[in-house]
Amino acid sequence: MYQSNFPENFLWGGAIAANQAEGAYLEDGKGMSIADALPMGKDRVYHFSLELDPEKHYPNHEGIDFYHRYEEDIALMAELGLKCFRTSIAWTRIFPKGDELEPNEAGLQFYDRLFALLKSYNIEPIITISHFETPLYLVKEYGGWKNRQLIDFYERYAKVVFERYKDQVTYWMTFNEINHAHTLPLIAAGVDISQAKDETEKLNIIYQASHNMFVASAKAVIAGKKINPDFQIGCMLSLSPIYPASTNPEDVFESYQLRRRSLFYSDVQLRGEYPGYFNRIVKENDIYLDIQPGDLETIKEGTCDYLGFSYYRSSLHRAGTKILGNTGGLIGEKNPYLKETAWGWPIDPLGFRYVCNELTDRYQKPLFVVENGIGLFDQADEVGEFNDPDRMEYLKEHVMAMNEAIEDGCDIIGYTWWGPIDIVSAGTGEMDKRYGFVYVDRNNDGEGTLERKKKASFDYYKQIIETNGANL
Ligand code: BG6
Repeated sequence: MYQSNFPENFLWGGAIAANQAEGAYLEDGKGMSIADALPMGKDRVYHFSLELDPEKHYPNHEGIDFYHRYEEDIALMAELGLKCFRTSIAWTRIFPKGDELEPNEAGLQFYDRLFALLKSYNIEPIITISHFETPLYLVKEYGGWKNRQLIDFYERYAKVVFERYKDQVTYWMTFNEINHAHTLPLIAAGVDISQAKDETEKLNIIYQASHNMFVASAKAVIAGKKINPDFQIGCMLSLSPIYPASTNPEDVFESYQLRRRSLFYSDVQLRGEYPGYFNRIVKENDIYLDIQPGDLETIKEGTCDYLGFSYYRSSLHRAGTKILGNTGGLIGEKNPYLKETAWGWPIDPLGFRYVCNELTDRYQKPLFVVENGIGLFDQADEVGEFNDPDRMEYLKEHVMAMNEAIEDGCDIIGYTWWGPIDIVSAGTGEMDKRYGFVYVDRNNDGEGTLERKKKASFDYYKQIIETNGANL
C-alpha cells in the first residue's frame, strides 16, 4: 500500500524561467539576452546567427506576459497551494548589456514587487541567477563565457541581487543546467562553436567556458554567504540518466563515461575540485585551460549547498556513438520498454528514483528537484474544458517514484513542477508544448487572448500538495 514519506516542510512548488514567461523583452530598460535572439523552431538552440530575422517568430518576446500579469498568475499559484515558486531573475533587466557598473533600477523594482507578492502568500521564492539568460551583448562583444571577463560581470550582478533581495530570498541557484554547456553551448554558455575547426577546438571552448562559470559560481557563493549566511545556494544540472543500450560491456562502460561528462559539473561544484578522471579527458583531447592563480582555491571555497536538478526522461547510449560534446541531454536510441511523448521524450518514473539514488550515493548532499514535467498538446473539449489525464498520470508516477527515493534514504528538500502555468518552450521556442496546470490562450502563431484557465490537473496537484503527497 502507498504511504507518503514526504517530510513535513517539503517544498512543493512550480518552476518557470524569466525568459520563457515574462515577455516585455525590451521593457523598462531591459536588454536582449541570448534567449531573446533565438527563434521558434526545432533547431532554435543551434541558431548561431544572432541577428533577429523578420521572417522568423520569437514567441518568448511576449512570453505569457507574466511581466504584466504576474499578480493574477501568482494568485493562481497560491490557489494551487504552492509552498515555493522557482523563477529566474532576467540578468538583462538588471544589467541590460551586462558590463555596466550600475544596475537598472526599474528591473530591480519588478522583482521587488514579485518577491513581495510571493511572500504575502507565504510562497518561498527559489531563484535562478542565470537561466539561459546571458546578456546578448556579452555573447556578441565578449564571446560569451569563454571570456573570463564575464566572471566579474556575473559576480557584480549576483552581488546586486543578493544585496537587494537578501531578506526575501533564501534559496538560490547559480546557473541553470550548467552541464548543457556541452549539449546546448549557445544558450547555456553563450558560446558559438559553429566556427570551431574541429572537435578539439569545440571542446576547448566549452571547457574554458565551463571553468569560467565554475569560478563565477564559486565567487557568487562566497559573496552570497557574506551577505546572508543563511542563504542556501545550489548548483543546477540536467540529469537524465543514461542507460547502456545493451549488456555489452562496451555500451556499459561508455555510458558511464558519458554520464561523467555531466556529473563532472556537480563534482566540481559540490566537491570543490576537478575530479581525477578529468585529467585524462584533458590529455586525450588536447585541452588547454586558462586557469589563473587563485581560481582553484576559489572553486574550493565556493562549493554549493545543494544539488538542484531537472528530470524529465532517460536516454540510451550505444558505444561508438559520438560522446564528445554531449552530456546526455540527447535522447539517444529508442528504449523499447518506455512510452514516449509527442516530442519523443521517453516517460520513465523509475529512472527518476534511480537518479535520486545515484546522486545521493555520490554526494550525500540535499537534492532539490527543480524541474519535472511533461510537455503535451492540450486541447479544449466541446465545452471548453481542458482534461489532461496524461499529465496527471505522469505527475502521479513521478511523485510515487520520488516517494520511494525518500524511503531509499535520499534527502530531497523539494519538488517544483516545470511550467505550472503554460510558458514558451526553451528547446523549440513553441507555445504549443505545454506543461501547465493552467492553460494560457496563446498559440505558436502568436494568436490568442492570453486568458488563463485551469486544467483538470490543477485540482489534482492541489490535492497532492494539500495532503503532502499522501493522496495520489
Ligand atoms: C530544461 C530547461 O532544459 O527543460 C527549461 O531548464 C526547459 O528551461 C525545460 O523549458 C523543458 O524543455 P522544453 O524544451 O520542453 O521547454
